[in-house]
Amino acid sequence: MPGKLITFAGIDGAGKSSHLAPVEQWLLERGHQVLVTREPGGSELAEQLRSMVLSTDMDGLTEALLVFAARRDHWRTKISPALTGGCVVVSDRFVDCSFAFQGGGRGVDWQVLEQLEAAVLGGVRPDITLWFDLPVAEAVGRRADRPADRFESEAVAFHARARAGYQRRMERDPHRFVRVDASRPREQVLQAVLEGLEARGL
Ligand code: TYD
Repeated sequence: MPGKLITFAGIDGAGKSSHLAPVEQWLLERGHQVLVTREPGGSELAEQLRSMVLSTDMDGLTEALLVFAARRDHWRTKISPALTGGCVVVSDRFVDCSFAFQGGGRGVDWQVLEQLEAAVLGGVRPDITLWFDLPVAEAVGRRADRPADRFESEAVAFHARARAGYQRRMERDPHRFVRVDASRPREQVLQAVLEGLEARGL
């Protein structure tokens, strides 16, 4: 596809979302057409599924099915057409988060997730995944003053398993990952992000 898909990943509290607007601005200045979106969500149906997933108790497999259902609609109606049209799509979270949170965090079978991934995305992977990585204890400290959703209120061990899930994804597919040390001050993190994008041809 002519466009490029850039995804943001990380545990809750990594601070990734604050880099969306500066990255969008940077891409626009370089003459790209840009679509900024998020998961779970990004389409009308997917946003409805998002509010269920973030607020309603359910088991890990149900959660996985819902986030992949949301992803399917988001992919089909928004991301895939934008990539076909030559856009750079920047998604705040994407498929790796399902492996981290539902796979690592909740213990859903990795192979089941891989089957869902293949069915939903047909083998397409992000071109670049920015993994905002930091120790779990620091992430917990950063989000102490905000109201917590179902994931944010999980124990430290859950987030440690989620972090290990990202690591496992990166080991399988190292060329597309840019692991950014997100424990540094915000400007340094942004600089590392932009350098990573530039090094990969953006
Ligand atoms: P998040 O993106 O952190 O939004 P906000 O910044 O508004 O809190 O919240 C989305 C949550 O959904 C996050 O805790 C991770 C979780 N999630 C999954 O469990 N599986 C997924 O596949 C995705 C994309 C997100």
